[in-house]
Amino acid sequence: MLAGRKVLLIIGGGIAAYKSLDLIRRLAERGVRVTPVLTKAAEEFVTPLSVAALSRSKVYTDLFDLTDEAEMGHIELSRAADLVIVAPATADLLGKMAGGLANDLASTLLMATDKRVLVAPAMNVRMWDHPATQRNIATLQGDGILFVGLNEGDMACGEYGPGRMSEPLEIVAAVEAALTDGPLKGKHVLVTSGPTHEPIDPVRYIANRSSGAQGTAIAEALVALGASVTFVTGPADVARPAGVKVVEVQTAEQMYKAVTDALPADAAVFAAAVADWRVDAAGSKIKKDGSGKLPELKFSENTDILATVSQLKKGRPKLVVGFAAETDDVEAHATAKRKRKGCDWIVANDVSAGTGIMGGSENDVTVISDAGAENWPRMSKRQVAQKLAAKIAEAL
Ligand code: CTP
Repeated sequence: MLAGRKVLLIIGGGIAAYKSLDLIRRLAERGVRVTPVLTKAAEEFVTPLSVAALSRSKVYTDLFDLTDEAEMGHIELSRAADLVIVAPATADLLGKMAGGLANDLASTLLMATDKRVLVAPAMNVRMWDHPATQRNIATLQGDGILFVGLNEGDMACGEYGPGRMSEPLEIVAAVEAALTDGPLKGKHVLVTSGPTHEPIDPVRYIANRSSGAQGTAIAEALVALGASVTFVTGPADVARPAGVKVVEVQTAEQMYKAVTDALPADAAVFAAAVADWRVDAAGSKIKKDGSGKLPELKFSENTDILATVSQLKKGRPKLVVGFAAETDDVEAHATAKRKRKGCDWIVANDVSAGTGIMGGSENDVTVISDAGAENWPRMSKRQVAQKLAAKIAEAL
């Protein structure tokens, strides 16, 4: 099942690096082609020669190796694999990843890749428990990075506790899970996300507080189930999801066009907070003229993308999911909205002040469908995304 797959294996500088030699062997036995990268510190624990011999591949170590750049640039190297594995992932490497540093080959590849990344941490117990490491892990999990381990046990430093890297066969199982075709393989899902910006003049615009977090998490959860995802996003705060086709837009009308261009799709999830109105924008900056006269903005209504796609006679996705941001009577309003727009499901959330949902990391949703209203307990936006993606997989 893994035969013919390609992985980029980044080996960090820790005593557990010796296990990565066995990991290469185990992956190679299964027909996986491993391209190894060693950090400077890793070279203190394992030699490039043994890594090259086991992987039967050139070993990459230095960002500024001009021969390598001529042969295969670091961008290409970061994307040529189906999966990137970091084993062992030291506290330092996790910190670099979470902080977005790119000051050596390993960290640069991790920044440049558009593939999924599986991390097998290994470090001293106290380093693992340190709030900085725990913060970094939470950040990376939020970014969609996959984790395997840690294991608990005796450690090389003489302490006992969580800190040991997962065994090579455990990592192989995680690689299998990461590369396995999910239930949405072969399905194209369209996701809209983030706010839109509606210009008033060349320097001003009208926006809303959507961060794009929920739409991004949904795209990631769909990718994890094997879907091919087109992600149409307004100017959102959060990083774009990995492994999707990203289409960046600014305005609602641009989003509408991008959505139309991306069809056909098996399912469409409209998580974007689209502006209902656009301004008839001035061609040059509106100036104060000193008379105290206030500018008058003229609005026109934007196309309702969700309603338009839901009501397509030809080429309607089999499943259309809308969102409803409500501040009161959530269920009643969302039920009416589902009818009015003609979508299959509405994911309703209460965005009233004090819930911390808009722009926050948690969500409290009610999913309305033909079958009625399902109240989901308050959970992280990532968990909502995973539950929704699983429900979509069931429905398709
Ligand atoms: N939506 C859309 N295109 C628009 C406006 C909204 O696709 N021009 C989608 C959103 O992505 C979301 C759903 O419609 O999935 C609900 O949007 P919302 O703004 O909550 O509803 P409205 O139709 O604006 O209703 P109201 O303002 O009365 O709450």
